[in-house]
Amino acid sequence: MDVLDAIRARRSVRAYRDTPVPDEVLARVLEAARLAPSARNRQEWRFIAVRDEATRRALAEAAKGQTWVAEAPVCLAFCATEDQYVMSCGQKAGTVDVSAALAYVTLAAAAEGLGTCWLGAFYEDRVKAILGAPAGARVVGMTPLGYPAENPPPRPRKPAGDVISFERW
Ligand SMILES: Cc1cc2nc3c(=O)[nH]c(=O)nc-3n(C[C@H](O)[C@H](O)[C@H](O)COP(=O)(O)O)c2cc1C
Repeated sequence: MDVLDAIRARRSVRAYRDTPVPDEVLARVLEAARLAPSARNRQEWRFIAVRDEATRRALAEAAKGQTWVAEAPVCLAFCATEDQYVMSCGQKAGTVDVSAALAYVTLAAAAEGLGTCWLGAFYEDRVKAILGAPAGARVVGMTPLGYPAENPPPRPRKPAGDVISFERW
């Protein structure tokens, strides 16, 4: 599957089968995160793969009760190890870097026939406590990872003419 095929195939999946994700498949998906670009190539990140069911249930609760998250056999947390470095463009590098890694993972997962759903709705302090994250770390996002139990249609996107321009705003 080429990259654009994976981009087209990816959906936010909110129902999962309990079929395990083989170790070698999980390793390939996580490799996509490890190889993502980062500002100054700092790689100030930690990607946490959770298979333990009790921990996944706790994470789902911390994700504002999105209980379907725990249906998937893996939950991935994407963390910045610090949040102090602000790029000259004004954006926090940790947030941007870790978001890039999360996006890569959603595509690598789609190429493996796996579902993901980027989660931004969670109580960060609770997630950090569950995962034992140090005080200075930030949890940028999470996603369940597993074989889909649903096949959602593509969600609408704005037309290209509304969001893409050339040369000027
Ligand atoms: C930063 C971010 C945060 C999101 N948070 C959640 C979330 O907490 N729960 C959820 O069910 N979906 C969440 N989503 C998924 C979006 O709702 C979804 O990407 C959007 O509706 C488009 O659908 P698609 O991903 O299937 O193309 C999030 C997506 C992004 C990019």
